[in-house]
Amino acid sequence: MSVLAVSNLTKRFNLEAGFFARFGRFVNAVNDISFSIGKKEAYGLVGESGCGKTTTARMLVRMYNADSGEILFHNNDTTISVNDLKKEALRQYREKVRYVFQDPARSLNPRMSVYEVLVSGCRKPLKQRGVSEKQLWEKAAAILDEVGLQTADLEKRSSEFSGGQRQRISIARSLLMEPEVLICDEVVSALDVSIQGQILNLLLDIREKRGMSFLFIAHDLKVACYFCDRIGVMYRGELMEEAPSADLYREAHHPYTKLLFSSAAGISESGSKADSQSPAPVRPSVPEMKGEFCSFAPRCPAATERCFNEHPGLTQIKPGHTIRCFNFELAQ
Ligand SMILES: Nc1ncnc2c1ncn2[C@@H]1O[C@H](COP(=O)(O)OP(=O)(O)OP(=O)(O)O)[C@@H](O)[C@H]1O
Ligand code: SF4
Ligand SMILES: [Mg+2]
Repeated sequence: MSVLAVSNLTKRFNLEAGFFARFGRFVNAVNDISFSIGKKEAYGLVGESGCGKTTTARMLVRMYNADSGEILFHNNDTTISVNDLKKEALRQYREKVRYVFQDPARSLNPRMSVYEVLVSGCRKPLKQRGVSEKQLWEKAAAILDEVGLQTADLEKRSSEFSGGQRQRISIARSLLMEPEVLICDEVVSALDVSIQGQILNLLLDIREKRGMSFLFIAHDLKVACYFCDRIGVMYRGELMEEAPSADLYREAHHPYTKLLFSSAAGISESGSKADSQSPAPVRPSVPEMKGEFCSFAPRCPAATERCFNEHPGLTQIKPGHTIRCFNFELAQ
């Protein structure tokens, strides 16, 4: 049973403002995406910068409204259509599906004490449920302990902490209302590599202890494979491959997923060892693209004429494993 089910979600942004908006230059940030997150499951959305991960996540909590598509939240035998939620119902939904931002320095008010940072968004609903200020303090102290900080830290300002500690405070804040789903948007990518492992292990502990579901967003496929049960690989707003993490790690099929793994191993698109000082590879000229085509075709080493003239759909290559590629037989 899924806790969140997303079907055919689409969002495009108008790049022009005011009068010029009518002439419409658009970016299709998210293009007909469908996936689901099971109860207690960690689902990863992975892809390069600008592929639409954050836009997808923001639609899940209605920071952006989808242009089309459906988001269903299943909780306690009820199913909620997230697109239809208004005011109080939306606020309650956001208690259950919480967003943790990439950059804790920007998402935490440096002038507030850690206690105020933790409770400011949830004092009112908790008080309405009969929670006293003393109980709120105890709850905040217990959650701070859970994320590896101390009760005395409640009185300090968030600006007094390191990047990793601030991310712990961010995570603690998201846990206070005991959510069902945590959306972690690049929560480790702004941190030093040594700290990344500590925060990932903290999230694994929380996951195990609380039995929560996760949407884990990352551009690093290996990090996502470490944390997630299943992964959706995004490119230019579309899902290109979806599979259990272990399958993907063992045997990625889509040319783009393979490229992501080889970039992580330091191998460039031309097959040589990647070197940030060397010039970008010169691409061979590609056939003229008319209408529908595979969005990865201009970069794909396996592209054929068909790829520049037709848009590939998703094909299941084995149970739970789908790819968007005409050449999936070749890719296997
Ligand atoms: N508010 C906005 N207005 C206009 N375009 C936007 C807006 N938000 C995102 N975009 C565009 O939509 C596309 C997807 O952006 P998004 O932030 O979702 O990507 P991302 O995968 O999260 O990237 P990153 O890894 O850099 O965070 C990009 O082309 C981006 O420029
Ligand atoms: S459809 Fe063609 S261009 Fe697209 S990923 Fe597959 S082989 Fe490459
Ligand atoms: Mg993003």
